[in-house]
Amino acid sequence: MNKLLVSLLLTLGISTMAQAAGPAVVGDAAAGQGKVAVCGACHGADGNSMAPTFPKLAGQGERYLLKQLHDIKSGARAVVPMTGMLSNMSEQDLADIAAYFASQHMSVGAADPKLVERGKALFSGGKLDQGMPACTGCHSPTGSGNAAAGFPKIGGQHGDYIATQLTNFREGERTNDGDTKIMRSIAEKLSNKDIAALSSYIQGLH
Ligand code: HEC
Ligand code: HEC
Repeated sequence: MNKLLVSLLLTLGISTMAQAAGPAVVGDAAAGQGKVAVCGACHGADGNSMAPTFPKLAGQGERYLLKQLHDIKSGARAVVPMTGMLSNMSEQDLADIAAYFASQHMSVGAADPKLVERGKALFSGGKLDQGMPACTGCHSPTGSGNAAAGFPKIGGQHGDYIATQLTNFREGERTNDGDTKIMRSIAEKLSNKDIAALSSYIQGLH
């Protein structure tokens, strides 16, 4: 593991421990199922969305989901199509919804064979000459993430959605990756071609 990754992981570990003392609300997946009717139109009833610009939520880590719901609700992450949708939801509602989608199973897409080699090289090797760590260190070699640490599952996610997120991190339009700017500092090393190859590879990863 290179030094940058180790220091990133240490910093994350510290913020992770600080958050662990957070709210004591426990999510109930069964209760959550009754609260997601409005979400299904875009994300699919079980969290496997059909349209590639709407992220799949099925099988995503509960901790990551809850963080995103908080960030979307507070405006720390701007998701215009969801404006107002979470305003009247309680802490318990958000926890139940996160538990419900986490309990589902994410479907897997297919990678473009022409992009696999470049995508895999970046995903597993990073760009060591530029100090960019491999994605595998946090998102795991299969893309399943690390649910306990709040590192999202990305394997199988829609490539279009992944490409939008990497571009938004790079351009500073998505800034909810914390004070360590983990994803912004990684994405700034990625060209448009890198992003296209990574997104396609990730879509087929499982
Ligand atoms: C009108 C369409 C629409 C509806 C309805 C909708 N969403 Fe979303 N949601 C989106 C879009 C689009 C994004 C991604 C925006 C982006 O590209 O950053 C998103 C992102 C998310 C994310 C972040 C996923 C990730 O991988 O980071 C979560 C969590 C989420 N939505 C939960 C919900 C929940 C819960 C509901 C119902 C209460 C809901 N959404 C309703 C369109 C919608
Ligand atoms: C040091 C850990 C770390 C490394 C290395 C890392 N990531 Fe991430 N990544 C994260 C964290 C943490 C988040 C969640 C940020 C947040 O809370 O919004 C994230 C979020 C993402 C997201 C958004 C997921 C979603 O559902 O919206 C994508 C896409 C992503 N990373 C892709 C990558 C790719 C591709 C690489 C390699 C080039 C990579 N990451 C390397 C920690 C990492």
